[in-house]
Amino acid sequence: MSELLSSSQRKKVTTHTFLVKKQRGEVISMLTAYDYPTALAVDRAGIDSILVGDSLGMVVLGYENTLPVTMDNMLHHCRAVARGARYALLVGDLPFMSYQVSPEDALRSAGRVMKETRCEAVKLEGGEWVAPTVKRLVQAGVPVMGHIGLTPQSVHVLGGFRTQGRDEETGRRLRSDADALADAGAFAIVLELVAPELAGEITSSVEVPTIGIGSGAACSGQVQVLHDLLGLFPDRTYRHAKRYAEIGVAIREAVRAYAREVREGAFP
Ligand code: KIV
Repeated sequence: MSELLSSSQRKKVTTHTFLVKKQRGEVISMLTAYDYPTALAVDRAGIDSILVGDSLGMVVLGYENTLPVTMDNMLHHCRAVARGARYALLVGDLPFMSYQVSPEDALRSAGRVMKETRCEAVKLEGGEWVAPTVKRLVQAGVPVMGHIGLTPQSVHVLGGFRTQGRDEETGRRLRSDADALADAGAFAIVLELVAPELAGEITSSVEVPTIGIGSGAACSGQVQVLHDLLGLFPDRTYRHAKRYAEIGVAIREAVRAYAREVREGAFP
């Protein structure tokens, strides 16, 4: 609906919009972007929120996981995205070990993201244990999006990228993680690969919106990695992602055609 609105009708999305949308039962759309052209396309297409995810380590920088992503990587990409985003709420990920050591570290890291990039919120991974940090950040004026379930920065502790909360014990833990984050003042909580029934229960029990990825349709919103949605990696498929385009194939075909025409003297 919102993509049909002209720019004069579109309103800037804020953290307050997120809450209002949940209260009205309107589903929140969120997508990652990592640079100026993708931010421009995603923003103008009418998405509610852009996440500059540390998934950029995997889909832009070619790492195996998100652990090597640095603060400088994040700042660089957040700045580029900010130049292209006008309406969407802009959220920047805090990378691995930029907030885990102490709340002071987290304040310094989040402060850099907010001051140096024009991001309007940060996202960090973890539940109850990170709630005191979330509280400090919110008190200091930094809106925080939580992230529980499959938390990719803890991939080695979790033993792989697997659905979380299928057993009772993890289900209980995820429920109290969500409560702790909401109590600490998080404005939204990402639920990644959380068993759909549990994701629905958490969504009903917390006041703030939940944003699901691979966690079913009962969440208050959905987030996806842009490159999965666009099919930029033809050989990679995920159960939780839907391909809306085959851009990876289109790029290869275009480059093959160009190379052939150059070789054959057909271009220029
Ligand atoms: O880094 C990222 O892109 C994320 C989303 C998958 C939620 O954390």
